[in-house]
Amino acid sequence: MVVRHINIAVLVSGHGRGSNLQAIIDACSDGRITGKVAVVIGVKDDAPAMERARSQGIATVAIRSKDFDSDEAYGARILEVLAEHETALVCLAGYMRILPSSVVSAYRHRIMNIHPALIPLFRGTGMFGEHVHQAAVEYGVKVSGCTVHFVDEQYDTGPIIIQKCVPVEEGDTAETLAARILVQEHKAYPEAIQLFAEGRLRVEGRVVHILG
Ligand code: GRF
Repeated sequence: MVVRHINIAVLVSGHGRGSNLQAIIDACSDGRITGKVAVVIGVKDDAPAMERARSQGIATVAIRSKDFDSDEAYGARILEVLAEHETALVCLAGYMRILPSSVVSAYRHRIMNIHPALIPLFRGTGMFGEHVHQAAVEYGVKVSGCTVHFVDEQYDTGPIIIQKCVPVEEGDTAETLAARILVQEHKAYPEAIQLFAEGRLRVEGRVVHILG
């Protein structure tokens, strides 16, 4: 098995807290991930996740889609930054948009996202943040969890890499359920990234086989 030391680019949103970003940084520091966060791409420089990255000596680049005339131009700028940082893997952590298709094709099966539900449940348009957990509580599911998956051209539809479950308990609110799931997110994302670094993910159709 060839374990690679990979450069990771993390894409965050305008107001994301960056807790998954931090979980990835920590896993790189303590060797659970053989790699480093080379760059964090966000929407604005003063977003909490961007400040968090800079305070730990990680390069940040703000790229706003609305500053570009087209999705192609926006995608080209993202690709430029990814190339500058010799990115092997892109991790979305709270990134709220569909990535330009040029980025998805250039990094096919090298872009991951984390979603705070067991896909294919509670996913897709409008299913972000608290809405996901509110929907799960209202539906009355007895388990929920998180999913790390490869990114394709739509919301939350790419091949699934890792899922972790948590119980939904009597009296849970969207907030208490979110907190229970977040603990698992912080484990699942580093695990998925390290499987990638170890070359152990093989995608066949929409199934991800974990080798070894
Ligand atoms: C997480 O709940 C993740 O599942 C979702 O966006 C949230 C980002 O949280 N995609 P954080 O900024 O990593 O704390």
